[in-house]
Amino acid sequence: MKIAIVVGSIREGRVGSSVGSWVLESLGHRDDATFELVELADHHLPLFTSRTLPAAAKGHYDDPAAQAWGDTIARFDGYIFVTPEYNHGIPGAFKNAYDTLGVEWQHKAVAFVSYGANDGVRAVEQWRQVVANASMFAVRASVGLSLFSEFGHGGLRPSDRRTGELAAMADQLVAAARAMATLRAK
Ligand SMILES: Cc1cc2nc3c(=O)[nH]c(=O)nc-3n(C[C@H](O)[C@H](O)[C@H](O)COP(=O)(O)O)c2cc1C
Repeated sequence: MKIAIVVGSIREGRVGSSVGSWVLESLGHRDDATFELVELADHHLPLFTSRTLPAAAKGHYDDPAAQAWGDTIARFDGYIFVTPEYNHGIPGAFKNAYDTLGVEWQHKAVAFVSYGANDGVRAVEQWRQVVANASMFAVRASVGLSLFSEFGHGGLRPSDRRTGELAAMADQLVAAARAMATLRAK
């Protein structure tokens, strides 16, 4: 299975990149899947304005940046969304990136690693509602990092139990990605 670790903050100086790197370092040794970092910021996506609805676009987009984003996302069986919480919800740029595509998300598996003052859990709960529309399977396990106790001047320092939580989440995600691949084959 091929899993993308999608860093969804595009803010200059974002801490999301350090979270994404930690996820990759922690899971990179697994032999049941390959993991790859995808930085949304690298894609320079415009706000979605297309006349064609993404669900009807069949993976073909007018905007070259949207096409490159779609081609990237299409390569994977599952995703780990590395998401901050902005104003108690999903960051706008990440939601825009999600809205820009259609078929690429469909019948894929997804898991969430969040961070924030309350571990970013409100953003994750919103994501669960959003991804349901593309018939994604969102696994139950997630990892939430506290902005107050797990980030400092030295960077990200996840508490001891996070490594186990991340492994358990990846177990669920890889199993779900396998199951969803059989659905897509039908
Ligand atoms: C527009 C905006 C809104 C925010 N709102 C919240 C919030 O509702 N809850 C929270 O825990 N943190 C909030 N924060 C703080 C972020 O969790 C913190 O800045 C974090 O570093 C953002 O992730 P990033 O650095 O990867 O962009 C907000 C930050 C921004 C920029």
